[in-house]
Amino acid sequence: MSFFSKQLESYLDNHYTREADLLKSLERETFQKTTQPQMLSGGYQGRLLSPISKIVQPKNILEIGMFTGYSTLCLAEGLQKDGKIVSIDRNEELLYLVKKYFEASEYSNQIEIKIGNAIEVMDELDLHDFDLFFIDADKSNYINYYEKIVNVAKPGAILLADNVLWYGKVLAETASGDKDTEILKRFNQNLAMDERVEMLILPIRDGISLVRKR
Ligand SMILES: C[S@@+](CC[C@H](N)C(=O)[O-])C[C@H]1O[C@@H](n2cnc3c(N)ncnc32)[C@H](O)[C@@H]1O
Repeated sequence: MSFFSKQLESYLDNHYTREADLLKSLERETFQKTTQPQMLSGGYQGRLLSPISKIVQPKNILEIGMFTGYSTLCLAEGLQKDGKIVSIDRNEELLYLVKKYFEASEYSNQIEIKIGNAIEVMDELDLHDFDLFFIDADKSNYINYYEKIVNVAKPGAILLADNVLWYGKVLAETASGDKDTEILKRFNQNLAMDERVEMLILPIRDGISLVRKR
C-alpha cells in the first residue's frame, strides 16, 4: 500500500539525491539473490536515514534488523570518525553478501555485526552508549525493543522504527490472530502517550517513527 498517489510517488522518486553506486549494487544484488528483497530500505528511505544520522553525528548506532546491510551503510554515513555501528540479525545465511559490501565500503572498520536473537544480543550491550537506534526487525518485539532502549537511553538519543503503518493495517480493525498489527497499534499508541519521549510518524514508505528521548 502506498499513502501517496502514483504521480506523487514518481515525483518523489525523481527528486532526491542519488545514493552511492555501492548502495545501488547492493540493492540490485539483494533483489537477485534473496527471497524477500522488499525488506531492504532502498534508495529513497536510505536517503532519509543518511541525513538523520548526519544531523545526529552519532558516536554509536544500534541497528536491530540488518538483512543485507543496506540501512547499516546508510546510517554509517553519519558516524563520527571513531564511531561505530552495531547491527544485529538472527540470519547468518546472508553474511556472504553483507560482508562483501561492508568490506567494500569506507565504513568496514566501523561496523560490528552481531548474529543472534536481538533481545538476547541487546542484553549483552550497554544501551546507554548509543546515540541513534534503528528498529527494523520482527514486529512482535517492537514494544520489547523500545522499552529496553527508552529506559536506559541518554537524553537526546534518537530512535527510528520502520514499518509502523504496516501497509495501512494500523488504520483498520485488527483481524483475529494478527499479532503483528495488534502490537504495532499498541506500539504507536504507547509512544504517542509516552512522556519520556517526543515523537511523530513520518508517512514515508511504510511509516517511520522518529523519536527523541527527552
Ligand atoms: C526488514 S529486514 C531489515 C532491513 C534492513 N534494516 C534494511 O533496511 O535494509 C528485518 C530483518 O530482521 C531480522 N530479524 C527478525 N527478527 C529478528 C530477531 N528476533 N532477532 C534478530 N534479527 C531478527 C530478519 O532476519 C531480517 O533480516
